[in-house]
Parts: sequence; C-alpha cells; structure tokens
Amino acid sequence: MPGKKVVALTGAGISAESGIPTFRDAGGLWEGYDVTEVASPEGWSKNPEMVLDFYNQRRKKALEVLPNPGHKFLVDLEEYFDMVVVTQNVDDLHEKAGSTKVIHLHGNLFQSRSTLDPNLIYEIQGWELNIGDKCEKGSQLRPNIVWFGEMVPSMDLAIQETLSADIFIVVGTSLVVYPAASLLEYVGDSVPKFIIDPDLPEIPNKPNLNLINKKGSVGMKLVYEKLVSHYQ
Ligand code: OAD
Repeated sequence: MPGKKVVALTGAGISAESGIPTFRDAGGLWEGYDVTEVASPEGWSKNPEMVLDFYNQRRKKALEVLPNPGHKFLVDLEEYFDMVVVTQNVDDLHEKAGSTKVIHLHGNLFQSRSTLDPNLIYEIQGWELNIGDKCEKGSQLRPNIVWFGEMVPSMDLAIQETLSADIFIVVGTSLVVYPAASLLEYVGDSVPKFIIDPDLPEIPNKPNLNLINKKGSVGMKLVYEKLVSHYQ
C-alpha cells in the first residue's frame, strides 16, 4: 500500500489530448466568448441564458471525450503512492480515468447549484441546464463553477494536501489564475517538483525543480517511470 504522498496540480493542458481545448492557447475556449461574460457573477446577472449555453456546450463536449494517458498515469501511480489530484479543470476526466482522490478547485461541470442556497448542489443528468431549472426552494440553478471573483471553497483542503506532499507534479497549467497557482508556494524546498508543459509557464527558480518540456501524456510517462523507480 502507498507510502509517500504525491500531489498533482493539473490544468486544462492535461485534457488537451482528449480534445478539450485549453483556455489560453490559440483557438482556446474563450475565443468568441468574453471571459467576464461567461465566468463571472456579473455576466450571470446580465445574461444567464448565454452563461448556461456556454456551459451546456462545454458539458456536451466533455461527455463526448475520453481520458488520455496523461490522466491514466496519475491513476497508475495510486498503486505505489498516496495520490491526490488537485485540478483546476471542471471536466470529469480524472474520475473517468479512475483517480480516487480528486479536488476540483474550480467546481464541477456536471453539478448545478441553487442561486439561493449554495449548499444545495445537484448532479446534472445529460448536458443541459436551462432557464426554469430550479432548486427545491424554487430558485434558478446555476452551474457549480467557481467564477472569477468568487471564493475557492476547496483551497484550504488543497493547501493542506500540498503542505504534506513528498512529491509535487504540475501538468498543463499556465499558472496564471490565483489562488490555484499559489499552491506551488506551499511546496517544501526539499520536495521534488515536476512541471510538465509543452510551453512551460514562468516559474520562480526553486530547489528540486524538474522542468519537462513535453505534452501531458509523454511527460507523465517519464515522471511515472522516474517516481516508480526512484522514489517509492
Ligand atoms: P490555460 O489555458 O491557462 O493553460 C493551459 C496550459 O496547458 C498552458 O500552459 C499550455 O502550454 C499547456 N498545454 C497545452 N497543451 C498541452 C498538452 N498536450 N499537455 C500538457 N500541457 C499542455 O489553462 P489553466 O491553467 O488550466 O478557470 O487555466 C486556469 C483557469 O483559467 C481555468 O481553471 C479556468 C480559467 O479561467 C475557471 O474556469 C474558473
């Protein structure tokens, strides 16, 4: 059974090879959509139909795609390590691949939430959430996504996990959105850190940093082999 703790912070890049476009690469998700319109409380008040439609399209796409080897290597590591995946992604590809401990910092595409009582959270069946879909107290449902300017409820848990990590992996994130990006600051100096990205983000120089300039599937294979042979 697993001994050392491995925490992996993932972003849109890990789902890129499954066919879900990233946010900030050319042709990224926001193209054609103004971020402030589709991912903010202000945008929701102004045009809820547009916001629901945006996430309906994302959900439809997420239902069509499959996890890729990048996700699967994180599952395979569970055989050797106490694995925790902290993801900024709202898709369910980590779960579909088989990861058992996944913290979704930015919410979940397949859940809706009451606009009256944030504790009322429901699973979405299929891909549509529409105007008129209401919680048990009669108020409109919104996607259970953390929008810009909103609190990140799972951040404390993610920080706790990060503080106890023996090994830290980052896959496919531009590390520009906070507080998610700040998790790296909680990783101890002596902890080996593996950063996988075909277009590596800027990272302050830290001890024990291993930069892997590859896409998720290739980089995760390298890291998987290294961890299993050196760090168990
Ligand atoms: P970004 O789109 O900002 O960054 C994606 C990263 O993935 C970039 O660094 C790419 O170089 C990298 N990438 C591209 N293809 C890859 C591949 N095949 N394998 C590995 N990496 C690859 O996405 P995030 O950092 O996840 O928030 O964005 C953070 C947050 O910004 C998102 O969670 C979202 C957005 O606003 C919300 O929706 C609240």
